[in-house]
Amino acid sequence: MSKITYIDGDAGILRYRGYPIEELAEKRNYLQIAYLLIHGELPTKAEYDTWEHNITFHTMVHENVKKFMDGFHHDAHPMGMVVSTVAALSTFYPDAKYILDEKSRMLQTFRLIAKIPTLAAFAYRHSQGLAYVYPNNDLPYTANFLAMMNRPSWTTSYEPDPVLTKALDILFVLHADHEQNCSTSAMRTVGSSHADPFSCAAAAVAALYGPLHGGANEEVLKMLEEIGSKEKIPEIIRQVKDGKRLLFGFGHRIYKNYDPRAKIIKKVADQVFEVTGRNPLLDIALELESVALSDEYFIKRKLYPNVDFYSGIIYQAMGFPVDIFPVLFAIPRMSGWLAQWQELLQDPEQKISRPRQIYTGYPERHVPS
Ligand code: CMC
Repeated sequence: MSKITYIDGDAGILRYRGYPIEELAEKRNYLQIAYLLIHGELPTKAEYDTWEHNITFHTMVHENVKKFMDGFHHDAHPMGMVVSTVAALSTFYPDAKYILDEKSRMLQTFRLIAKIPTLAAFAYRHSQGLAYVYPNNDLPYTANFLAMMNRPSWTTSYEPDPVLTKALDILFVLHADHEQNCSTSAMRTVGSSHADPFSCAAAAVAALYGPLHGGANEEVLKMLEEIGSKEKIPEIIRQVKDGKRLLFGFGHRIYKNYDPRAKIIKKVADQVFEVTGRNPLLDIALELESVALSDEYFIKRKLYPNVDFYSGIIYQAMGFPVDIFPVLFAIPRMSGWLAQWQELLQDPEQKISRPRQIYTGYPERHVPS
């Protein structure tokens, strides 16, 4: 049971705390949504100011975290670096183990929401061989992240493009929570053993890394690049129908209708392309969608584009390399994971997670003498 996110997969409905995702994406920013997920209500102006201050106050990471980053090989996947450094944070904050203390839980919540963009940007800069850029706490959350990613290290003045910042912020809203998906279940499962939230969040990021979950946005882009031209689409569809490959960015365990997030993302794409120029992969994606949606294989199985189908095309147009895409998913999902973790710990009915097993092995047998 949960009071956080409602999904009606047949009707294509997604709501956070009762509010339709379409309204939230249009009228509120990501940090307001993070507050909503965690506290259950949208913040007043005064509540938001305090919340934003508390998050912004914790954006820096201990200098030793840079040494962890430096230790990774130059071509390490950024998601691997983020999994490891989120886990490493638990060693910097031993107070995080007081998970039954409400104040401590909220402090760790500030820390994780604040530091995940810093870790993400450091992982990216390391993978590009660029100097790390520290957080600029004069900037709002999403602009600050873009500045840490893109600011040349020889200057201190860098203003991210406002249209691209807004677009990324909307993408953060769309990715913030999605009820009991694989990574959220990982967060809850590890949290049910009363591990500290940094260790729980590392498990959640690891679950998100997989190509069937948050790693799908990276796979979609690779697939569209491999397709390269519309003429190749029938051949790809044939391979999918023959069971030789998956159509990444399609299908969902819960949605048996168009993913409402994918609809919003298509609109965001138009705004982004006005600034960056049109990503030519969009035409391939649109054609692929149209072919798939009129094909009996996809119709019968109710396979529609999911959130990952169009997000990668936007990220690429914004200049992000493909392997950072799952990291861009992890940043906003952190607030959803933490909301779910807080809910779990406040629910007296929740016990340690322990799936029951159906044993299918040998009956008793004896070791030969
Ligand atoms: N391409 C081709 N066939 C598919 C696909 C796909 N993307 N997705 C499902 N199917 C087929 C599947 O083979 C099965 O066919 P059959 O009945 O003949 O065996 C049928 O559709 C039902 O699929 P399923 O495997 O029972 O569905 P599931 O709920 O277990 O899997 C999924 C959900 C998201 C893992 C799957 O649709 C998939 O692998 N999609 C591609 C990866 C992807 O885009 N993941 C992102 C999900 S949304 C964001 C997130 O959660 O991170």
